[in-house]
Amino acid sequence: MALREILTEPNKILREKSVNVDIVNKDIQILMDDMLETMYAAPGIGLAAIQVGVPKRIIVMDLSRDEKERAPMFFINPKITWKADEDSTYEEGCLSVPNQFAKIDRPKNCNVNYLDYFGEPKTLVAEGLLATCIQHEMDHLEGILFIDYLSKLKKSMIIKKLSKNKKENVDRIVV
Ligand code: NI
Repeated sequence: MALREILTEPNKILREKSVNVDIVNKDIQILMDDMLETMYAAPGIGLAAIQVGVPKRIIVMDLSRDEKERAPMFFINPKITWKADEDSTYEEGCLSVPNQFAKIDRPKNCNVNYLDYFGEPKTLVAEGLLATCIQHEMDHLEGILFIDYLSKLKKSMIIKKLSKNKKENVDRIVV
């Protein structure tokens, strides 16, 4: 396994629409292993392939938040088949939008069809944090970030801040 670089906003690649995976082979499994390791190291609870610069419809998640009881989940070509009318609100963050958080409304429950790590078709029946997380990750596959749901003003303030941090990090020298 290897760590991959996580792309951060602003970055055009994050806005690309990801494409379906045709065959779940060893290369795809290696990518998923790398994504999982990268997500754990960050640390985060979800990561889409586009966040490491690969525009394929692949997501890894682990909501356990406990190193000793890891429960990794792999989603390939996920499709939402049902969404609840009722919303729930979570304060969301994103590894591609570092250190920024905002309350976002999303459908409280959803069902998702997908292929697992071995390419087997599965259905996820999700509620609560799991439902929010899978919807946040699936947005990445469409090039959507959680800040897109905020007001124009809030969004542009966040992007400005991120651009400034990026520039400062480039100017800094670590020896
Ligand atoms: Ni994210």
